[in-house]
Amino acid sequence: MDRYAVIGNPIAHSKSPLIHRMFAEQTGQALTYEALLAPLDDFAGTLRGFLADGHGVNVTVPFKEQAWALVDSHSAAAERAGAVNTILRQADGSLLGDNTDGRGLVRDLQTNAGIKLRGARILLLGAGGASRGVIQPLLAARPSQLCVVNRTVDKAEQLATLFNDLGPISAAGLHWLEESVDLIVNATSASLGGEVPAISPKLIRPGHTVCYDMMYASEPTAFNRWASEHGAARCVDGLGMLVEQAAEAFELWRGVRPETAPVFAALRRN
Ligand code: ATR
Repeated sequence: MDRYAVIGNPIAHSKSPLIHRMFAEQTGQALTYEALLAPLDDFAGTLRGFLADGHGVNVTVPFKEQAWALVDSHSAAAERAGAVNTILRQADGSLLGDNTDGRGLVRDLQTNAGIKLRGARILLLGAGGASRGVIQPLLAARPSQLCVVNRTVDKAEQLATLFNDLGPISAAGLHWLEESVDLIVNATSASLGGEVPAISPKLIRPGHTVCYDMMYASEPTAFNRWASEHGAARCVDGLGMLVEQAAEAFELWRGVRPETAPVFAALRRN
């Protein structure tokens, strides 16, 4: 049977095995999918060991940049993102690296949450790997403005420079305050520590602005609680993005697009 895995450190709480097993059952694909813990100093060994006969791998924290450096070729999305979350072992044995995070986010925003990105003013909070991975697909959705706002402004400026051939991208520090925006996407790791980046609540137009936290938890995240207190029209967490990026990976590997709604509903109930 064709073998797949997710590799990370830590990995015990990964939902990817459950998601991919549900996709496989739903589409009648015969495959196995396991979670592999790689030592922090030997991701390459774990990857090579698995792909000696495995067919594909998802890569998660903290190995996505290393995965980018180890594969033989990149999809256009991975090339720009500088990080790989999906690897396909091709017929000739070479490794193709893709990054499905951004496509997963855009699909969750547009298809599941019904948010119109074309012409929207978007604030992207954070300038680490999570932000970098989603900028190209966000710009491809043709917003009127994408402002990368980060505590360390230099990092936001670097990202704006890297992607400025693709659309209207700008950079600023957390103090940034123009008018309110249509959508705020939180790609910082602040929610992990229960913190909220110190941006002005005036960026939220009550009843209009949508807030999206790329993190998810069984309870609303700190950022989404803050957004809701300041009148955000909707607060969405990253569970849908998780399922959608997995569906993109599954389609790359198997050539079949799984239904994401039942899988999302099952995870939400868990
Ligand atoms: P990732 O790969 O998950 O993006 P990262 O590269 O460590 O992780 O980036 C974390 C991001 O969260 C950064 O943009 C960081 O801001 P700095 O670049 O200024 O460090 C942001 N971040 C983390 N904790 C934060 C907090 N409490 N307030 C504001 N931003 C925070």
